Amino acid sequence: MKISVFGCGYLGAVHAACMASLGHEVVGIDIVPEQVRALSRGEAPFFEPDLPGLLAEGVAGGRLRFSVDPGDASPATVHFVCVNTPQKKGEYGADLSHLNAVIESILAVVKPGDVIVGKSTVPVGTAERLLARITAVEPEAELLWNPEFLREGHAVQDTLSPDRFVYGYVDGPQGRDAAAKLDEVYAVALSDGVPKLETDLATAQLVKVAANSFLATKISFVNAMAELCEATGADVTQLADAIGYDDRIGRKFLNAGLGFGGGCLPKDIRAFMARAGELGVDQALTFLREVDSINMRRRVRMVDLAREVCGGSIVGRRLAVLGSAFKPDSDDIRDSPALSVAAQMQLQGARVLVTDPRAIDNARKKWPDLEFASTVEEAVAESEAVLLLTEWPEYVELDPADLKRLVAVPRMIDGRNCLEPARWRAAGWTYRALGRP
Ligand code: UDX
Repeated sequence: MKISVFGCGYLGAVHAACMASLGHEVVGIDIVPEQVRALSRGEAPFFEPDLPGLLAEGVAGGRLRFSVDPGDASPATVHFVCVNTPQKKGEYGADLSHLNAVIESILAVVKPGDVIVGKSTVPVGTAERLLARITAVEPEAELLWNPEFLREGHAVQDTLSPDRFVYGYVDGPQGRDAAAKLDEVYAVALSDGVPKLETDLATAQLVKVAANSFLATKISFVNAMAELCEATGADVTQLADAIGYDDRIGRKFLNAGLGFGGGCLPKDIRAFMARAGELGVDQALTFLREVDSINMRRRVRMVDLAREVCGGSIVGRRLAVLGSAFKPDSDDIRDSPALSVAAQMQLQGARVLVTDPRAIDNARKKWPDLEFASTVEEAVAESEAVLLLTEWPEYVELDPADLKRLVAVPRMIDGRNCLEPARWRAAGWTYRALGRP
């Protein structure tokens, strides 16, 4: 099929490359020329496993190209909307300016029978407004809402074989025709048995924010338990294992520690609360305010723990921070808990050195005042405490005896509960973590 993908950031670049790998003819449209140039050379502008191969293959095979000109989308019959909807500055609500602009660009090329597919995360009610605008310009074009659930670090796999497809549309002959076209786009995954749910537009928009709110709630729940564990001497990792054996609860997303960050969970729960307020049902989501507060308290608690471990003050102390990405297998530093802790400790007078296998360049741009080291050895040299804040496999596998030879004082603060306390203590380290004795 001939497909266009508007917005070639994280979501769009992955979506475009994956659709081309399925044999579709794809053009990706973006307004940032450098991004388009890099993608046109088959280069991924961010770190995502498996993406570089797909991009290079698609571009070399001629099925995938990128452009800054929305006019290049005119041969396409299915237009995917993949722009980001970031948090507005100083407000909880989502900024829909990119989304609105992209819809206008699509309307300049749309033809009767075309399908516009929204994948961006939006406040519920947005799709209905966009549909009215689209049908005012081209009554025979249709809008489907088809939210994306991809996780950074697994984006290609999540796009090609998702857990489920959700198609939201207005039921009727035109909507059903549009859904059939989307079936053709996703034919491979559908024939592999990926479940598909067809809903109205409102439900499809809500599914995405509800899923992310649930995940955020799960993480904050276990982090609240960590606070209880700290007050009682209990161990939150054992608690999570024990409750996680119950199928109804499940062990996934119950890793206590520094909490969640990134470009989705924090802004999505805030935008959801803002939207509930506009709809007059803010009480339904007041618990998300608590979810957000528990999460932000983890960062404060981490700085307090560093102070405690250093004997009451971090002023002038050399502290090593392992990790600056918001999670492993990503170079994304948006709302990174690790960087937020590193910056706080520096503001409070510590001499902080941060390292990360992938995210240093991005981190340096955002936090130019922080100091960065390219290797673990460099970062920990002469440090009085090491803080493991992003659980990259290479950090989890560090050898306590080897590392001890490099530091000034062997103190390990495990912000992700990913190390074995007994092993580190046996090697002579003071080991501390959130929610563990
Ligand atoms: C999330 C959703 O998982 C995905 O479905 C949606 O499409 C986009 O938002 P992502 O932002 O890539 O994906 O990250 P995710 O893997 O969900 O992790 C989010 C944050 O939670 C990370 O900072 C991670 O470190 C933290 N986390 C995750 C925990 O603190 N504990 C856990 O048990 C799991």
